Amino acid sequence: MSVDPANASPEIENLLAETRTFAPSAAFAAQANATAEMYAQADADYEAFWAQLARERIDWIEPFHTTLEWDLPFAKWFVGGKLNISENCLDRHVRNGLGDKVAYHWIGEPGDTRTLTFSNLLREVSKTANALKALGIGTGDRVAIYMPMIPELPIAMLACARIGAPHTVVFGGFSAEALSDRINDAEAKLVITADGGWRRGKPAALKPAVDEALKSTPTVEHVLVARRLGDDLEGGTAMTAPRDVWWSDIVDGQAADCAPVPLDAEHMLYLLYTSGTTAKPKGIMHTTGGYLLGAAVTHQMVFDVKPDDVYWCAADVGWVTGHSYIVYGPLANATTGVMYEGTPDAPDWGRWWQIIEDYKVSILYCAPTAIRAHMKQGPQYAAAHDLSSLRVLGSVGEPINPEAWLWYHEHIGAGKTPIVDTWWQTETGQIMITPLPGVTTTKPGSATFPFPGIGVDVVDGDGQSVPLGGGGYLVLTRPWPAMLRGIYGDPERYKQTYWSRFPGMYFAGDGAKRDEDGYLWLLGRVDDVMNVSGHRISTIEVESALVDDKQVAEAAVVGKNDPLTGQAIFAFVIPKIGVDPSEALAAELREHVAKVIGPIAKPKFLMFTTDLPKTRSGKIMRRLLRDIAEGRPLGDTTTLADGGVVETIRSNSGSAEE
Ligand code: WTA
Repeated sequence: MSVDPANASPEIENLLAETRTFAPSAAFAAQANATAEMYAQADADYEAFWAQLARERIDWIEPFHTTLEWDLPFAKWFVGGKLNISENCLDRHVRNGLGDKVAYHWIGEPGDTRTLTFSNLLREVSKTANALKALGIGTGDRVAIYMPMIPELPIAMLACARIGAPHTVVFGGFSAEALSDRINDAEAKLVITADGGWRRGKPAALKPAVDEALKSTPTVEHVLVARRLGDDLEGGTAMTAPRDVWWSDIVDGQAADCAPVPLDAEHMLYLLYTSGTTAKPKGIMHTTGGYLLGAAVTHQMVFDVKPDDVYWCAADVGWVTGHSYIVYGPLANATTGVMYEGTPDAPDWGRWWQIIEDYKVSILYCAPTAIRAHMKQGPQYAAAHDLSSLRVLGSVGEPINPEAWLWYHEHIGAGKTPIVDTWWQTETGQIMITPLPGVTTTKPGSATFPFPGIGVDVVDGDGQSVPLGGGGYLVLTRPWPAMLRGIYGDPERYKQTYWSRFPGMYFAGDGAKRDEDGYLWLLGRVDDVMNVSGHRISTIEVESALVDDKQVAEAAVVGKNDPLTGQAIFAFVIPKIGVDPSEALAAELREHVAKVIGPIAKPKFLMFTTDLPKTRSGKIMRRLLRDIAEGRPLGDTTTLADGGVVETIRSNSGSAEE
């Protein structure tokens, strides 16, 4: 949802209608990891709060001497400390007698399974780290990872972390072009990929996209290819010697031990690219010590994770949710996790519920778009399975509508499981606004309160705090351990994007409202970023992809509210003179966007037009395009250069929906 917070009445009316509250049960509260006292304790001295947790929760090779160096907007946490993340996620658990505990129950889409204990994982990670070294990768070298949801994906990440080679995971659904852009920005020396993966019952090749991407990536020396499909992939996988190496050929023969490299707390752990308000994705930098602490502490408290829990985050590792809450947070806490390769509808909509029943999953973390998709199918799929093992449910990625919250609560949580609606971002690295189960009384649709130690405010356009009951812009007022350290190679853009709109405060790009009780309600993006199925896509990236097609003269893209995906992409396209604005062209343009960015960015609606509403200075008035896309009455058109344009577009024969 893209909203002008000053004018956010539709959402607010809807939210105000929701007055039900859900207090934690006494039984849950009595056993909860988090306590109400944590808020006051953290507020009194947030640096001391994090420092104490850092000493308790992390194994340091060398202790840190300074908790925080804050040279706004540049933070350094746990300065002087040395550690290794893979050591914290694996070796120490094995040393503590947890070697036989399951780290991942992995489930392939066709039904094949793999079980990896902490000992197995340590062994595989060590061998892979040795293989990386054999391929010429050392501390500081960047490695791009482009893989399906197979165990080799977290193994590859941890192997990089073990030797201090920052990884950049590129979501497997992104196109070859998106991959090469990221490889080039990161100047990666190695790409780790797979022959492919299973998707909706079919083998889907991945390696050809890497081959395509590598036509324009001069820094890449090798490609390490895991075998997932093998003979199931018709025509096999083309390998270019000596560049391409099969995983089994180089990893299997390596020694099973590899000393973890002691790394500075501020050593770059990874880059993750995310969409912003310009066409160029931003390489968000995360470092070692603070990130690990933020991910591990929030994971343990927000999901109330206990040693016997079976925890399942149903995101893809290619997004930040997977980084923090499938890999680093859960493994640091020695948690048993579930990892599933495929889609929720394969072979039918009972798949997730079957997995929960089979593995006695006790904590489920997923996105509202998935909940709405299940809702649309009806509760009979969940009802056919024993979900009684569930004790905490989580939501992330976009605002969860009260209806979806209540459906989740009733049909998945048996009307009693606490729900944690967690707000955070790629940039924040860790959950920032969330209920604490056992402590917080929830309201369906509200992410409630900042996590202890986190500073949040809702401000007006001048940066003034908005009184309770009011809406405005969400800002973060204090540094936090897992915060981004910047945008790779572009400190100016970092300052400009996050710290210039409201001096001294981090601007998240989201609108929010704080109700009379102080509860926070997220209202969606206020900038030119869309949120489609919980994935951030910038309007300008899609516009650039459209204009990249030779038949297009100009394009403008907006997000349209969508009952299933939160927002859907609506593109207004002006074809070049002489080009026929046909259905066939619309289909071709959609495919073009898929090729340039990835299928997730394909416009759902595409309308051909001969003109676009612009201000006298030539800026496209997206606000008006949004009104058209939503079929709403038009907002203020006084700054429009040509008042007739909008009516002409609106009276157009309508848009073609895919
Ligand atoms: C949105 C995903 C409302 C928000 C972890 C944010 C949410 C963007 C929530 C970050 C939530 C995430 N309620 N909105 N619980 N969680 N968002 O970087 O607009 O992929 O700015 O990180 O998702 O998306 P990102």
